[in-house]
Amino acid sequence: MVRPIDWKTFSELRGSEKKEYFMRDGDIFHVVMAQQFDRPSLDYICGLTTKIRGIAKGNQGMLFLQSLLQTKRAMLYFVQPSTRTFLSFMSACQILGIRCSEVRDPTTSSEMKGETQEDTVRTFSSYVDLVIMRHIQERFAEKMAWLLNQTGRPVSVVNAGSGRDQHPTQALLDIYTLHRSFENYGGIDGKAIAMVGDLLRGRTVRSLSYLLKNYDGVKIYFVAPRNLQMAQDLKDYLIENNVNFEEHENFEEIIPLADAIYMTRIQDEYDQEGESKKIDYSKFHVTRERLKLLKTNAIIMHPLPRRSEISPEVDQDRRAMYWRQVRNGMWVRVALIAKIFLADKEIMSY
Ligand code: CP
Repeated sequence: MVRPIDWKTFSELRGSEKKEYFMRDGDIFHVVMAQQFDRPSLDYICGLTTKIRGIAKGNQGMLFLQSLLQTKRAMLYFVQPSTRTFLSFMSACQILGIRCSEVRDPTTSSEMKGETQEDTVRTFSSYVDLVIMRHIQERFAEKMAWLLNQTGRPVSVVNAGSGRDQHPTQALLDIYTLHRSFENYGGIDGKAIAMVGDLLRGRTVRSLSYLLKNYDGVKIYFVAPRNLQMAQDLKDYLIENNVNFEEHENFEEIIPLADAIYMTRIQDEYDQEGESKKIDYSKFHVTRERLKLLKTNAIIMHPLPRRSEISPEVDQDRRAMYWRQVRNGMWVRVALIAKIFLADKEIMSY
Protein backbone atom coordinates (compact mmCIF):
# COMPACT_ATOMS: atom_id res chain seq x y z
CA MET A 1 0.00 0.00 0.00
CA VAL A 2 1.44 3.41 -0.97
CA ARG A 3 0.99 6.43 1.28
CA PRO A 4 -2.11 8.51 0.36
CA ILE A 5 -1.12 11.88 -1.11
CA ASP A 6 -3.15 14.68 -2.71
CA TRP A 7 -2.53 15.48 -6.39
CA LYS A 8 -1.12 18.97 -5.79
CA THR A 9 1.51 17.69 -3.32
CA PHE A 10 2.30 14.71 -5.54
CA SER A 11 2.58 16.71 -8.74
CA GLU A 12 5.08 19.11 -7.13
CA LEU A 13 7.49 16.32 -6.14
CA ARG A 14 10.63 15.86 -8.23
CA GLY A 15 10.65 12.91 -10.66
CA SER A 16 13.01 10.87 -8.46
CA GLU A 17 10.78 11.48 -5.42
CA LYS A 18 7.74 10.06 -7.24
CA LYS A 19 9.45 6.76 -7.89
CA GLU A 20 8.17 5.10 -4.69
CA TYR A 21 4.58 5.74 -5.81
CA PHE A 22 5.22 3.77 -9.00
CA MET A 23 6.53 0.71 -7.11
CA ARG A 24 4.93 -2.14 -5.10
CA ASP A 25 7.01 -4.13 -2.62
CA GLY A 26 10.23 -3.09 -4.36
CA ASP A 27 9.04 -3.99 -7.87
CA ILE A 28 7.97 -1.72 -10.69
CA PHE A 29 4.17 -1.33 -10.86
CA HIS A 30 3.43 1.78 -12.96
CA VAL A 31 5.66 2.91 -15.85
CA VAL A 32 5.13 6.64 -16.08
CA MET A 33 8.41 8.51 -16.46
CA ALA A 34 11.97 7.78 -17.49
CA GLN A 35 13.35 9.13 -14.20
CA GLN A 36 12.05 6.06 -12.40
CA PHE A 37 14.70 3.85 -14.05
CA ASP A 38 18.25 3.49 -12.73
CA ARG A 39 21.23 1.69 -14.21
CA PRO A 40 20.59 -1.72 -12.55
CA SER A 41 16.95 -1.70 -13.72
CA LEU A 42 17.99 -0.72 -17.27
CA ASP A 43 20.64 -3.45 -17.39
CA TYR A 44 18.08 -5.94 -16.08
CA ILE A 45 15.45 -4.99 -18.69
CA CYS A 46 18.04 -5.28 -21.48
CA GLY A 47 19.08 -8.73 -20.24
CA LEU A 48 15.47 -9.85 -19.85
CA THR A 49 14.64 -8.64 -23.37
CA THR A 50 17.54 -10.57 -24.88
CA LYS A 51 16.49 -13.68 -22.93
CA ILE A 52 12.89 -13.37 -24.20
CA ARG A 53 14.06 -12.97 -27.81
CA GLY A 54 16.07 -16.17 -27.46
CA ILE A 55 13.13 -18.08 -25.94
CA ALA A 56 10.77 -16.82 -28.66
CA LYS A 57 12.88 -18.31 -31.44
CA GLY A 58 11.25 -21.73 -30.97
CA ASN A 59 7.63 -22.91 -30.82
CA GLN A 60 8.12 -24.42 -27.36
CA GLY A 61 9.46 -21.11 -26.15
CA MET A 62 6.54 -19.18 -27.63
CA LEU A 63 4.09 -21.56 -25.95
CA PHE A 64 5.92 -21.09 -22.65
CA LEU A 65 5.70 -17.28 -22.96
CA GLN A 66 2.00 -17.52 -23.85
CA SER A 67 1.32 -19.59 -20.75
CA LEU A 68 2.70 -17.00 -18.35
CA LEU A 69 -0.05 -14.38 -18.02
CA GLN A 70 -3.19 -16.01 -19.38
CA THR A 71 -5.28 -14.83 -16.44
CA LYS A 72 -4.44 -11.15 -17.05
CA ARG A 73 -6.33 -8.56 -19.10
CA ALA A 74 -5.10 -5.24 -20.50
CA MET A 75 -6.78 -2.10 -21.81
CA LEU A 76 -5.14 -0.14 -24.62
CA TYR A 77 -6.45 3.41 -24.23
CA PHE A 78 -4.90 5.25 -27.18
CA VAL A 79 -6.69 8.52 -27.88
CA GLN A 80 -3.72 10.04 -29.75
CA PRO A 81 -2.65 8.42 -33.07
CA SER A 82 -0.16 5.55 -32.97
CA THR A 83 0.98 2.70 -35.17
CA ARG A 84 4.09 1.19 -33.56
CA THR A 85 3.41 1.71 -29.88
CA PHE A 86 -0.18 0.47 -30.11
CA LEU A 87 0.64 -2.60 -32.19
CA SER A 88 3.79 -3.51 -30.31
CA PHE A 89 2.00 -3.32 -26.95
CA MET A 90 -0.86 -5.41 -28.32
CA SER A 91 1.61 -7.95 -29.74
CA ALA A 92 3.57 -7.97 -26.47
CA CYS A 93 0.38 -8.73 -24.53
CA GLN A 94 -0.53 -11.51 -26.98
CA ILE A 95 2.96 -13.04 -26.69
CA LEU A 96 2.42 -13.29 -22.91
CA GLY A 97 -1.13 -14.66 -23.23
CA ILE A 98 -2.80 -11.44 -22.00
CA ARG A 99 -6.21 -10.60 -23.48
CA CYS A 100 -6.63 -7.01 -24.69
CA SER A 101 -9.45 -4.51 -25.02
CA GLU A 102 -9.04 -1.12 -26.69
CA VAL A 103 -10.43 2.39 -26.86
CA ARG A 104 -8.79 4.41 -29.64
CA ASP A 105 -11.56 6.81 -30.49
CA PRO A 106 -13.08 8.61 -27.47
CA THR A 107 -16.18 9.47 -29.54
CA THR A 108 -17.19 5.82 -29.09
CA SER A 109 -16.88 5.97 -25.29
CA SER A 110 -19.02 7.64 -22.64
CA GLU A 111 -16.61 10.58 -22.65
CA MET A 112 -19.00 11.81 -25.35
CA LYS A 113 -21.74 11.85 -22.71
CA GLY A 114 -19.61 14.06 -20.49
CA GLU A 115 -17.80 11.42 -18.45
CA THR A 116 -14.45 12.68 -17.25
CA GLN A 117 -11.22 11.01 -18.34
CA GLU A 118 -10.59 10.20 -14.68
CA ASP A 119 -13.88 8.29 -14.40
CA THR A 120 -13.18 6.63 -17.76
CA VAL A 121 -9.82 5.28 -16.58
CA ARG A 122 -11.28 4.29 -13.21
CA THR A 123 -13.91 2.31 -15.10
CA PHE A 124 -11.19 0.50 -17.08
CA SER A 125 -9.59 -0.51 -13.79
CA SER A 126 -12.75 -2.45 -12.89
CA TYR A 127 -12.23 -4.78 -15.84
CA VAL A 128 -8.49 -5.13 -16.43
CA ASP A 129 -5.15 -5.57 -14.65
CA LEU A 130 -3.16 -3.12 -16.78
CA VAL A 131 -4.04 0.12 -18.55
CA ILE A 132 -1.65 1.21 -21.32
CA MET A 133 -2.40 4.78 -22.36
CA ARG A 134 -1.42 7.34 -24.96
CA HIS A 135 -2.76 10.84 -24.59
CA ILE A 136 -2.11 14.31 -26.00
CA GLN A 137 -2.17 15.80 -22.50
CA GLU A 138 1.18 16.13 -20.72
CA ARG A 139 1.47 14.10 -17.52
CA PHE A 140 -1.82 12.32 -18.21
CA ALA A 141 -0.50 8.87 -17.33
CA GLU A 142 1.14 10.28 -14.21
CA LYS A 143 -2.17 11.69 -13.01
CA MET A 144 -3.98 8.42 -13.77
CA ALA A 145 -1.35 6.38 -11.89
CA TRP A 146 -1.76 8.73 -8.93
CA LEU A 147 -5.57 8.50 -9.19
CA LEU A 148 -5.66 4.70 -9.29
CA ASN A 149 -3.25 4.56 -6.34
CA GLN A 150 -5.95 6.31 -4.30
CA THR A 151 -8.61 3.71 -5.19
CA GLY A 152 -9.31 0.20 -3.96
CA ARG A 153 -8.26 -1.23 -7.34
CA PRO A 154 -4.90 0.28 -8.19
CA VAL A 155 -4.09 -1.52 -11.45
CA SER A 156 -0.83 -0.82 -13.30
CA VAL A 157 -0.62 2.18 -15.63
CA VAL A 158 1.87 2.30 -18.50
CA ASN A 159 2.56 5.60 -20.23
CA ALA A 160 2.67 4.99 -24.00
CA GLY A 161 3.21 8.69 -24.75
CA SER A 162 1.89 11.73 -22.88
CA GLY A 163 1.75 14.94 -24.89
CA ARG A 164 5.09 16.65 -25.33
CA ASP A 165 6.60 15.44 -22.10
CA GLN A 166 7.38 11.71 -21.94
CA HIS A 167 7.44 8.43 -23.88
CA PRO A 168 9.31 6.20 -21.42
CA THR A 169 8.82 2.86 -23.17
CA GLN A 170 10.16 4.33 -26.43
CA ALA A 171 13.22 5.44 -24.45
CA LEU A 172 13.63 1.91 -23.07
CA LEU A 173 13.61 0.42 -26.56
CA ASP A 174 16.04 3.13 -27.66
CA ILE A 175 18.37 2.18 -24.81
CA TYR A 176 18.04 -1.49 -25.78
CA THR A 177 18.92 -0.62 -29.40
CA LEU A 178 21.95 1.40 -28.27
CA HIS A 179 22.95 -1.39 -25.88
CA ARG A 180 22.82 -4.04 -28.63
CA SER A 181 24.53 -1.82 -31.20
CA PHE A 182 27.45 -0.98 -28.92
CA GLU A 183 27.71 -4.34 -27.15
CA ASN A 184 31.06 -5.06 -28.83
CA TYR A 185 32.24 -1.44 -28.72
CA GLY A 186 32.33 -0.72 -24.98
CA GLY A 187 28.58 -0.31 -24.41
CA ILE A 188 26.67 2.98 -24.12
CA ASP A 189 29.14 4.47 -21.60
CA GLY A 190 31.30 7.16 -23.18
CA LYS A 191 29.29 7.42 -26.39
CA ALA A 192 28.28 10.65 -28.14
CA ILE A 193 24.59 10.82 -29.03
CA ALA A 194 23.31 13.55 -31.35
CA MET A 195 19.57 14.25 -31.02
CA VAL A 196 18.38 16.05 -34.10
CA GLY A 197 15.26 17.98 -35.10
CA ASP A 198 12.27 19.23 -33.14
CA LEU A 199 13.66 18.74 -29.64
CA LEU A 200 11.32 21.22 -28.01
CA ARG A 201 8.16 19.26 -28.75
CA GLY A 202 9.48 15.72 -29.15
CA ARG A 203 8.79 13.53 -26.13
CA THR A 204 11.09 10.68 -27.18
CA VAL A 205 14.24 12.80 -26.93
CA ARG A 206 13.22 14.03 -23.49
CA SER A 207 12.68 10.52 -22.11
CA LEU A 208 15.88 9.23 -23.73
CA SER A 209 17.89 12.13 -22.26
CA TYR A 210 16.60 11.26 -18.78
CA LEU A 211 17.73 7.64 -19.27
CA LEU A 212 21.17 8.58 -20.62
CA LYS A 213 21.95 10.13 -17.24
CA ASN A 214 22.46 6.55 -16.04
CA TYR A 215 25.50 5.96 -18.31
CA ASP A 216 29.03 7.16 -17.59
CA GLY A 217 30.73 9.71 -19.78
CA VAL A 218 27.89 10.10 -22.28
CA LYS A 219 27.88 13.28 -24.33
CA ILE A 220 24.65 14.58 -25.86
CA TYR A 221 24.57 16.98 -28.81
CA PHE A 222 21.21 18.72 -29.16
CA VAL A 223 21.02 19.74 -32.84
CA ALA A 224 17.93 21.78 -33.66
CA PRO A 225 16.58 24.93 -35.26
CA ARG A 226 16.96 27.74 -32.71
CA ASN A 227 13.22 27.89 -31.94
CA LEU A 228 12.97 24.14 -31.43
CA GLN A 229 15.90 23.55 -29.07
CA MET A 230 15.59 21.32 -26.02
CA ALA A 231 13.53 22.86 -23.20
CA GLN A 232 15.25 24.46 -20.21
CA ASP A 233 13.79 22.08 -17.58
CA LEU A 234 15.45 19.11 -19.28
CA LYS A 235 18.76 20.94 -19.64
CA ASP A 236 18.60 21.88 -15.93
CA TYR A 237 18.10 18.19 -15.11
CA LEU A 238 21.18 17.24 -17.14
CA ILE A 239 23.29 19.97 -15.48
CA GLU A 240 22.14 18.81 -12.03
CA ASN A 241 23.11 15.25 -12.92
CA ASN A 242 26.47 16.15 -14.49
CA VAL A 243 25.52 15.02 -17.99
CA ASN A 244 27.66 16.65 -20.63
CA PHE A 245 25.64 18.30 -23.42
CA GLU A 246 26.01 20.96 -26.11
CA GLU A 247 23.49 22.78 -28.28
CA HIS A 248 24.09 23.24 -32.01
CA GLU A 249 22.34 24.39 -35.14
CA ASN A 250 24.81 23.03 -37.68
CA PHE A 251 24.02 19.34 -38.22
CA GLU A 252 26.86 18.72 -40.70
CA GLU A 253 29.44 19.81 -38.11
CA ILE A 254 28.11 17.32 -35.55
CA ILE A 255 27.62 14.23 -37.75
CA PRO A 256 31.34 13.19 -37.67
CA LEU A 257 31.43 13.48 -33.86
CA ALA A 258 28.45 11.21 -33.14
CA ASP A 259 28.32 7.51 -32.31
CA ALA A 260 24.54 7.63 -32.73
CA ILE A 261 22.35 10.16 -34.45
CA TYR A 262 18.78 10.16 -33.20
CA MET A 263 16.56 11.80 -35.80
CA THR A 264 13.09 13.21 -35.11
CA ARG A 265 10.32 14.64 -37.27
CA ILE A 266 8.85 18.10 -36.86
CA GLN A 267 5.97 17.85 -34.36
CA ASP A 268 3.62 20.24 -36.13
CA GLU A 269 0.55 18.78 -34.44
CA TYR A 270 1.54 21.07 -31.57
CA ASP A 271 1.73 24.23 -33.74
CA GLN A 272 -0.21 27.24 -32.51
CA GLU A 273 -0.37 29.11 -35.82
CA GLY A 274 1.52 27.14 -38.48
CA GLU A 275 4.97 28.17 -37.18
CA SER A 276 6.59 24.91 -38.41
CA LYS A 277 6.14 26.01 -42.01
CA LYS A 278 8.57 28.91 -41.45
CA ILE A 279 11.44 26.56 -40.52
CA ASP A 280 13.92 25.20 -43.08
CA TYR A 281 14.02 21.66 -41.75
CA SER A 282 16.07 20.34 -44.69
CA LYS A 283 19.26 21.36 -42.82
CA PHE A 284 18.33 18.62 -40.34
CA HIS A 285 17.84 15.79 -42.86
CA VAL A 286 19.99 12.68 -43.27
CA THR A 287 20.79 12.30 -46.95
CA ARG A 288 23.12 9.90 -48.77
CA GLU A 289 25.58 12.78 -49.15
CA ARG A 290 25.60 13.50 -45.40
CA LEU A 291 26.08 9.79 -44.62
CA LYS A 292 29.64 10.18 -45.89
CA LEU A 293 30.35 12.28 -42.80
CA LEU A 294 29.17 9.59 -40.37
CA LYS A 295 31.61 7.26 -38.54
CA THR A 296 31.79 3.69 -39.83
CA ASN A 297 30.46 2.19 -36.58
CA ALA A 298 27.93 4.90 -35.81
CA ILE A 299 24.20 4.20 -35.94
CA ILE A 300 21.17 6.11 -37.18
CA MET A 301 18.04 5.98 -35.06
CA HIS A 302 14.53 7.40 -35.37
CA PRO A 303 11.45 6.66 -33.22
CA LEU A 304 9.33 6.89 -36.41
CA PRO A 305 7.05 7.90 -38.04
CA ARG A 306 9.37 9.80 -40.37
CA ARG A 307 8.69 12.34 -43.03
CA SER A 308 11.60 13.69 -45.09
CA GLU A 309 14.24 13.79 -42.36
CA ILE A 310 15.62 10.41 -43.43
CA SER A 311 15.59 9.64 -47.11
CA PRO A 312 14.36 6.04 -47.81
CA GLU A 313 17.62 5.35 -49.68
CA VAL A 314 19.36 5.58 -46.28
CA ASP A 315 17.41 2.45 -45.19
CA GLN A 316 19.90 0.29 -47.12
CA ASP A 317 22.84 1.60 -45.11
CA ARG A 318 23.95 -0.96 -42.50
CA ARG A 319 24.12 1.84 -39.90
CA ALA A 320 20.35 2.48 -40.17
CA MET A 321 18.79 1.02 -37.00
CA TYR A 322 15.28 2.46 -37.06
CA TRP A 323 13.55 -0.63 -38.43
CA ARG A 324 15.38 -2.68 -35.83
CA GLN A 325 14.09 -0.23 -33.19
CA VAL A 326 10.53 -1.02 -34.31
CA ARG A 327 11.08 -4.74 -33.71
CA ASN A 328 13.02 -4.17 -30.47
CA GLY A 329 10.05 -2.16 -29.20
CA MET A 330 7.86 -5.23 -29.11
CA TRP A 331 10.42 -7.34 -27.22
CA VAL A 332 11.24 -4.62 -24.70
CA ARG A 333 7.51 -4.23 -24.03
CA VAL A 334 7.18 -7.98 -23.49
CA ALA A 335 9.99 -7.70 -20.94
CA LEU A 336 8.43 -4.72 -19.21
CA ILE A 337 4.98 -6.28 -18.91
CA ALA A 338 6.50 -9.54 -17.70
CA LYS A 339 8.39 -7.56 -15.06
CA ILE A 340 5.27 -5.67 -13.94
CA PHE A 341 3.44 -8.98 -13.41
CA LEU A 342 6.49 -10.61 -11.76
CA ALA A 343 6.86 -13.24 -14.50
CA ASP A 344 10.46 -12.20 -15.15
CA LYS A 345 12.10 -14.67 -12.75
CA GLU A 346 10.36 -17.61 -14.43
CA ILE A 347 11.55 -16.30 -17.81
CA MET A 348 15.13 -15.86 -16.64
CA SER A 349 15.24 -19.44 -15.35
CA TYR A 350 13.73 -20.97 -18.53
N1 CP B 1 7.51 5.75 -32.00
C1 CP B 1 6.18 5.87 -31.83
O1 CP B 1 5.70 6.25 -30.75
O2 CP B 1 5.44 5.55 -32.93
P1 CP B 1 3.87 5.59 -33.01
O3 CP B 1 3.45 7.03 -32.82
O4 CP B 1 3.51 5.05 -34.36
O5 CP B 1 3.32 4.76 -31.88
